[in-house]
Amino acid sequence: MAAQRKTTTKRKPAAKRKPARKASAKTTPKPRTKTTAKAESKSATESRLRGYGGGGVDTVISVEDVTRQIEAIAQEVTVEELDALVDGEPFLTIDDLRAGYGKMEILHNLNLRVGRKQSLCLIGPNGAGKSTILHAIFGFNNIFGGQIRVGTNDAKREITNLSPNQKLKQAGIAYILQDKSVFPSMTVEENLWMGGFLMDKPAQAKEAAERVFDKYPRLAARRKHQAKVLSGGERRLLEISRALVMEPEVLLVDEPSIGLEPRFIDMVFEILHDLQHNEGKTILMVEQNAKKGLEFADIGYVLVSGEVAIAGKGDKLLKNPEVGRLFLGG
Ligand SMILES: Nc1ncnc2c1ncn2[C@@H]1O[C@H](COP(=O)(O)OP(=O)(O)OP(=O)(O)O)[C@@H](O)[C@H]1O
Ligand SMILES: [Mg+2]
Repeated sequence: MAAQRKTTTKRKPAAKRKPARKASAKTTPKPRTKTTAKAESKSATESRLRGYGGGGVDTVISVEDVTRQIEAIAQEVTVEELDALVDGEPFLTIDDLRAGYGKMEILHNLNLRVGRKQSLCLIGPNGAGKSTILHAIFGFNNIFGGQIRVGTNDAKREITNLSPNQKLKQAGIAYILQDKSVFPSMTVEENLWMGGFLMDKPAQAKEAAERVFDKYPRLAARRKHQAKVLSGGERRLLEISRALVMEPEVLLVDEPSIGLEPRFIDMVFEILHDLQHNEGKTILMVEQNAKKGLEFADIGYVLVSGEVAIAGKGDKLLKNPEVGRLFLGG
């Protein structure tokens, strides 16, 4: 497993990449879905749950194969192309970001742009560095170079080296963790109050929690229940709403659909859709369920080995045959 992961951290110079058209002419066997590095070590049932597509596991394609095949079709994605995907001015802007863990660089000169009230979904094989992008924005890992800015025009502010607390309290950025981040023995309302732990007075957190309860009666009905008795969908709703307590402008969401039954997956995407379109949140999401993620998001980036390999409008990427073959199970 470690060896598979290691290959994804190497930077492949853009110049070595082949043009997309050449690669798409290749006749590669058509996989129905892929098993992931993580999944390979788990049971067959688990691996079926964590694939990209909706099919079975008749044909298996490894993480390394997916990585190789995307690198083969990747073209250099210019900043101008990324800018063109944004409505108006970018609200979250990342320039030449180099970041990683310890001394290991995972993201190599990464650029990213998303407009205010827009959504961007990152897809890519396991270990591509998707979560690392969210970690870097929120201040969870080491940044070796580059800039992260939030805001538009004159109000653009550099936030590259702010701490996570500063990001949340001062920069209006909230991070919704990849799964299982509720405090199980605390009640629903206590969990929400925790979301306001950076507020100056506890009363402010309680007021903010009430606003969240007004918005989500389903959660209000469970306010005195311990979080551990909630259904998977309710728990995800609690995770999202806890992030809303600080009234952030930007939501970083790591794999919102992970581990959920289909009906809850739809519910979570409806909630995120409402937050974007009715509450004006800017959403940067990582999603293994590439179909759902790209259907949801205005913009999609395919990330491989810490670099953007393909970028486009979400609906356009959904129709991209290579994206379909590698991530959509068809
Ligand atoms: N805390 C950490 N310390 C050291 N290395 C890490 C850490 N977290 C991730 N990595 C490494 O960084 C690389 C990118 O990992 P990351 O979690 O960003 O991938 P990902 O695209 O989110 O994958 P997945 O789809 O499996 O969630 C991998 O090689 C991983 O092993
Ligand atoms: Mg991840």
